[in-house]
Amino acid sequence: MGDDGDSGRYSVAFPRRWWYPTCRSSELTRRPRAVTLMDLPLVLFRDGGGRARALTDRCPHRNAPLSLGTVHTDGCLECAYHGWRFDGDGRCRAVPGRTTGDAAAPARDAPGHATREQDGFVWVWGDGAVPPAGDPFALPELTERGAGEVVFPCDLDCTLHAALENSLDVPHTAFLHRGLFRGGEPTEIVAVRDEVPGGVEVQYLGEPIGFGPVRRRPGSGLTFDHWDRFFLPSIAQIEYRVPGWLRIVNTILHLPLSPFRTRAWFVVRFWTRAPASVVRPVVLARGRQILRQDARILAAQNENVRRFGGERYASTELDLIGNAIWLLLRRAVQAERDGGPAATPGQAEEPALSHTSVTFTV
Ligand code: FES
Ligand SMILES: [Fe+2]
Repeated sequence: MGDDGDSGRYSVAFPRRWWYPTCRSSELTRRPRAVTLMDLPLVLFRDGGGRARALTDRCPHRNAPLSLGTVHTDGCLECAYHGWRFDGDGRCRAVPGRTTGDAAAPARDAPGHATREQDGFVWVWGDGAVPPAGDPFALPELTERGAGEVVFPCDLDCTLHAALENSLDVPHTAFLHRGLFRGGEPTEIVAVRDEVPGGVEVQYLGEPIGFGPVRRRPGSGLTFDHWDRFFLPSIAQIEYRVPGWLRIVNTILHLPLSPFRTRAWFVVRFWTRAPASVVRPVVLARGRQILRQDARILAAQNENVRRFGGERYASTELDLIGNAIWLLLRRAVQAERDGGPAATPGQAEEPALSHTSVTFTV
């Protein structure tokens, strides 16, 4: 099956040497916050300078979760058990009760992960042993006057790959979301897939403008400009445009909490001719409705994969985005195994993604 082959899959494709979103900046106060990154417990906190920091959530002294601690007046994270204190880099700075010697010693340090705050999110570098390279994914700016934003999170019972595929898979929208999203009169559209720096993009041509099942007639000439994109390691992006009428960019940031649980933040930035205050509640209500249907089927899919003790896939040419995501994730993991800092398109031995065009109905 060329680059869309389904053999050799396994559940966890997790490239580590990338930036992952871990929480919204507004959620990280002076109170430490626990989160997992593919089952690795981390504690996030703000140091004395207000900077977001991330340490492994285990006190080197006696294994107490550091996330149960507090931030001391000196900006160090203080363990709740015996009060050892750690600075933002994880260095042990104080051992209460000790009258001699220096608190600092490498064995008493808590391993740290690099952090970055960008676009209102706290990003953590996935590999504590390797210095970060590059920047976190940049959210798109909508410069149109009166543009609005809606952000909502959702925890999904599924793998990172399943969540990414679901976000970007068009064929299921006409079936699972029939009547809500698509699923009116069948319309023939063309999908054109190309590899782009750091990911893959599919452009859809010929979809009549409409909302839910209510669409302009095919052939009326009024169509959406529509792109779906995946960027390594965990970003899905859906963009719709009708020049002069609307632009919607839904960027979905994913955090793999564990092999079978994935957190997603939907960051919907939009501009329409209607005021943002009118559009916002519609986007939110419709988005949540669609998401409930996705969450239900993903959880059932996940449960079945576990019941059968593994995954099995049979694809057609319509599965062009899910298979591309899988290939790119696998390539990134392979590049790390080979010792590269991070994967770049075409770097590893995996075949390149071919330019592909598919015609189908939705
Ligand atoms: S377990 Fe943290 S100070 Fe003892
Ligand atoms: Fe969906």
